[in-house]
Amino acid sequence: MSKLSSFLSPCLLVLFLFLRRCIADVGTAAFYAPPYIPTVCYGEETGEFPPGNLFAAAGEAIWDGGAACGRFYMVRCLSSASPRACVAGGSVRVKIVDQGSALGSPPSKNGTTMVLSLEAYRRIASLRAASVNIEFMESDL
Ligand SMILES: *[C@@H]1O[C@H](CO)[C@@H](O)[C@H](O)[C@H]1NC(C)=O
Repeated sequence: MSKLSSFLSPCLLVLFLFLRRCIADVGTAAFYAPPYIPTVCYGEETGEFPPGNLFAAAGEAIWDGGAACGRFYMVRCLSSASPRACVAGGSVRVKIVDQGSALGSPPSKNGTTMVLSLEAYRRIASLRAASVNIEFMESDL
């Protein structure tokens, strides 16, 4: 390996890790109510649920063949068809614990990027809105 490439590879890796955390995507979010178990990721196990039930089910866009299980996302409400549905300045960090298309409890809207627990959705939007447009970013911290 040349000196240049042995220098560049770690740099590119750092850049990649940095960008992955710093570039936000846009999508949509709906919500679902209990029962929250069983989940595709953890079965009947609730020990993996974050405090306050701040979790979500992954839509097909981010499910990643199940690799999404356990990932964390920062989610922010951008806008909604329902007027003033977004909580101003609200954001929530959720853990993916389930698959959106396999929920036992029906989501407020089908086919969204994420389906948030009631508790998580309330942090960023009014439950009057069946879905909202979101900005989201993977968050490892
Ligand atoms: C979502 O899809 C299911 C199955 O097709 C359907 O029964 C349900 O009414 C849909 N939910 C909404 C909110 O459209």
